[in-house]
Amino acid sequence: MYNAKAYSAASSTSPLAKTTIVRRDPTDTDVQIEILYCGICHSDLHQVRNEWSGAAPTVYPCVPGHEIVGKVTKVGKDVRKFKVGDIAAVGCLVDSDRTCPECKAGLEQFCPNMTLTYNAPDKHTGGVTYGGYSDSIVVDEAFVLKVPANLDLAGAAPLLCAGITTYSPMRHWNVGKGKKAGVVGLGGLGHMGVKFAHALGAHTVLFTTSPNKKEDALRLGADEVVVSRDANEMAKHAFSFDFILDCVSAEHDMNALLGLLRRDGNLTLVGAPEKPIPVAAFNIIFGRKSLSGSPIGSIAETQEMLDFCGDRNITSDVEVIPIQKVNEAHERMLKQDVKYRFSIDMASLRQ
Ligand SMILES: NC(=O)c1ccc[n+]([C@@H]2O[C@H](COP(=O)([O-])OP(=O)(O)OC[C@H]3O[C@@H](n4cnc5c(N)ncnc54)[C@H](OP(=O)(O)O)[C@@H]3O)[C@@H](O)[C@H]2O)c1
Ligand SMILES: [Zn+2]
Ligand SMILES: [Zn+2]
Repeated sequence: MYNAKAYSAASSTSPLAKTTIVRRDPTDTDVQIEILYCGICHSDLHQVRNEWSGAAPTVYPCVPGHEIVGKVTKVGKDVRKFKVGDIAAVGCLVDSDRTCPECKAGLEQFCPNMTLTYNAPDKHTGGVTYGGYSDSIVVDEAFVLKVPANLDLAGAAPLLCAGITTYSPMRHWNVGKGKKAGVVGLGGLGHMGVKFAHALGAHTVLFTTSPNKKEDALRLGADEVVVSRDANEMAKHAFSFDFILDCVSAEHDMNALLGLLRRDGNLTLVGAPEKPIPVAAFNIIFGRKSLSGSPIGSIAETQEMLDFCGDRNITSDVEVIPIQKVNEAHERMLKQDVKYRFSIDMASLRQ
């Protein structure tokens, strides 16, 4: 065991503060990573504030962060994929049982015994897992990803959650040429959703509550931008979408979105608001529409997404901050004042 620097929250109402945590020494199959950048996901905020107390109650102290990019500093003797000095990445998963049908199908994100990067039982320490708001992390190489060499590292970090969470359902629902795809909410996930829908060749429409984000959305790849609070603008798109990705972090009117799907269209919810969202039955009955959800993605698909981003030079649009500004960043995320992801420069934690 060794000590690592980190930022943790002591309770649902405490700000994140500097602390020391214990990490395991690398085992034979582990990779130790010096964290260079960690993105700030809205899930970090939900978790730190215990907003998912029903499904995933927070264990304190909580060290969030699951958009991790860094440099390999040590490898166990059986590690094959990485060597000291390599750039490596870690997303939302650090382990799974590897034996269940989901793992055997290469879909670890559905494993009933998966280990999330933070706030999950830690098999090694007996405590809880600690995430990327830290100067280092130790992860089994099977859950460590390779970052294409051409990608800017601060902008690559958010691909590990915001990237895969939007890429995976778009691939599953065959978003591509000839399809009309909507993305709801231009935040961390939403701006990646716009980039991917555009890159996959779909006619891409961004729905926003923030009219001042219109120019940015067009620059990011949207063909059209709709202000979702304007009923007239919404009505123009009735019954026309093959697919809509809902990336909203708070309560909102999902019925208005379901009304925009065409026959057999799908709305996938990736946003995880604190409270349940009402759905009117006839909004999905008429048109045989489907409403589904989607969690992150598998390790193989995360690598596929990173390679796709490498081929097309896609990264997240980031505002790089020192870790000392992390509480301010969480507050700004709530005010929708982020363009479009915060990425923590972890050098600030080493000072
Ligand atoms: N399913 C998964 O595996 C997964 C993975 C990661 C994150 N998530 C969840 O996805 C959600 C989004 O995460 P994020 O990091 O992208 O958050 P974010 O950067 O804060 O973006 C959320 C966006 O939602 C829109 N929004 C916020 N409040 C709204 C409201 N009351 N009504 C309508 N729109 C509103 C805003 O876009 P506009 O200003 O454009 O309206 C905002 O920028 C969070 O709930 C997060 O926990 C899920
Ligand atoms: Zn996330
Ligand atoms: Zn499994």
